Amino acid sequence: MPSFPIADDYARARGLPSDLPPERPPAPILKGQAALVTGASSGIGRAIAIGLARAGARVAVNYRKSAAEADGVLAEIAADGGEAIGVQGDVSVEDQVEAMFARTVAAFGALDILVSNAGLQQDAAFDEMTLDQWRRVIDVNLTGQFLCARAAVRQFKAQGLRPEVSTARGKIICISSVHDVIPWAGHVNYAASKGGVMLMMKSLAQEVAPLRIRVNSICPGAIRTPINTQAWSTPEAYGALMDLVPYKRIGEPQDIAQAAVWLASDYADYISGINLYVDGGMTLYPGFEEGG
Ligand code: BGC
Repeated sequence: MPSFPIADDYARARGLPSDLPPERPPAPILKGQAALVTGASSGIGRAIAIGLARAGARVAVNYRKSAAEADGVLAEIAADGGEAIGVQGDVSVEDQVEAMFARTVAAFGALDILVSNAGLQQDAAFDEMTLDQWRRVIDVNLTGQFLCARAAVRQFKAQGLRPEVSTARGKIICISSVHDVIPWAGHVNYAASKGGVMLMMKSLAQEVAPLRIRVNSICPGAIRTPINTQAWSTPEAYGALMDLVPYKRIGEPQDIAQAAVWLASDYADYISGINLYVDGGMTLYPGFEEGG
């Protein structure tokens, strides 16, 4: 894991361990399964793609523009002995979504896991937010999740059960955010999109559970990725961020990847329609540590 001196200094000053515990050796709990991860060329999506592959899945690494970065993810998976392909496509465009699912199924012969991760922020004060900023965020973060989940459900129904690889007919993991429940001033489009993901996910989970399709969300808190660089890249910003995180460290992409591997596996077979907050306690109202 790359080092991050700001986090080390912050932890050291408080007598806390500065490092994440060593990564556990990967167990092949997704062996034989085929997965598609959207927005997988960087950040959380990249870590999830690598994590699923290390757990034995064959992984389609979706990217929109960054072919070179996606190639880097493929190379890392191959170096680990895993199998992956790159699939280009914008999740907010219907025919591109259809094409990327078709390419994935053509390559792997089936689809068992969708991790709908692609998402973006276009921040603005509410009265300055343009309709384009509103639409772009809803299109990618919410409509993109709809289009991908619909394509996955169609594929799961068409292929039927594959008991040799999983008890469930298919698994969908929506990567949402703590901001599906925490209001976020200056980010109204983003919070609205994630709130929408929550009830889309739960309603869909209810609809397809009888088919043995599991639909759940992982809701990350502050994870150290390019989307929120301003929140962790200086000691001052990092200190202010830690006021919001009871566990007193920033999240790393692998924190989300490990949760995704487990949630996609049969270890989580009875879990349907939940929001799994992976946030170091950000949703615990940290302002009440002392107040109230
Ligand atoms: C956002 C990040 C933010 C985090 C916690 C995420 O969903 O994308 O920018 O740091 O929530 O507020």
